[in-house]
Amino acid sequence: MANLPGTFGRYPATRLRRNRRFEWSRRLVAENRLTPGDLIWTVFVRPGQGEAEPVPSMPGVERISVDVLAARAKQAHALGIPALAVFPQTPPERKTPDGEEALNPDNLVCQAVRAVKDAVPEMGVVCDVALDPYTSHGQDGLVRDNYVVNDETVEVLCRQALNQVAAGCDVIAPSDMMDGRIGALRVALDAAGHEETLLLSYAAKYASVFYGPFRDAVGSATSLGEGDKRTYQMDPANSDEALREVALDIEEGADMVMIKPGMPYLDIVRRVKESFAMPTYVYQVSGEYAMLMAAGEKGWLDGEGAIMEALLGFKRAGADGILTYAAVQAAKKLNG
Ligand code: PBG
Repeated sequence: MANLPGTFGRYPATRLRRNRRFEWSRRLVAENRLTPGDLIWTVFVRPGQGEAEPVPSMPGVERISVDVLAARAKQAHALGIPALAVFPQTPPERKTPDGEEALNPDNLVCQAVRAVKDAVPEMGVVCDVALDPYTSHGQDGLVRDNYVVNDETVEVLCRQALNQVAAGCDVIAPSDMMDGRIGALRVALDAAGHEETLLLSYAAKYASVFYGPFRDAVGSATSLGEGDKRTYQMDPANSDEALREVALDIEEGADMVMIKPGMPYLDIVRRVKESFAMPTYVYQVSGEYAMLMAAGEKGWLDGEGAIMEALLGFKRAGADGILTYAAVQAAKKLNG
């Protein structure tokens, strides 16, 4: 010790690069790990049979028909992905101002849920609750006098959720951002004997331009036109408000909470995880996926490498799991 006066714990005695030198030592000191078990695969479904149609703004992503989904769900399960979340491209002729197609027991989402549960019963199926795939105006709720009304929308969302659960959905994930919907959904599910159905709340969902490619993929961009969702989705300026949203949803009965988008909101992921110690999820949304993959296509960076780094970043920020369009690619990579 005598030869280390005042320098112990500092360079040159301390060299952080020692741990980084070899693959084996880097693995030993790794603090966070991404596994296929952390991923929820988000997938677009479209009508038809044997269909797999590329989404132009999301390289590598396709809208697939229900039969193709069933086959790919088996593959995803074999790769170790625990659950998938389905989003429908509803034909325009089935869209109405009040989105009644959401309540059709044979709508695309219900068909998809049944097909996945038939093909791979062990796979968790998550359904989005919101009216935007079904409304002709593209808003998530009912519009009265140019305003998305809250309480009347919540009543319809409860019926939408019951419709999805009847088809076999395991996890109800409301993305609409109406006030009080988690509590209302819990009561409606319990009253119908579905006390075991999970609620994954899109608790802190921001009004984001990063949803652009998703709206192309499901066709709600055309419906929404110049409209936006700022009267219900959160202001990107706010962080304390996200904690209030999450606190309310937990009180109302959420089993899991989600932050969305992901990459520009890692601070929110960290605050939510540290404040509530809840199962916390983050959505790597369409625009995040698109920009990384597009830069990859241009040869400006390694697109898949960038996706993997972003996914690991979510874990480091405190997320327990990630909803991502890249789940299958990522799981393949992780499985070597
Ligand atoms: C619909 C919904 C949206 C997303 C998930 N559910 C779009 C929106 O709110 O306009 C976006 C997902 C993505 O961009 O990947 N309520």
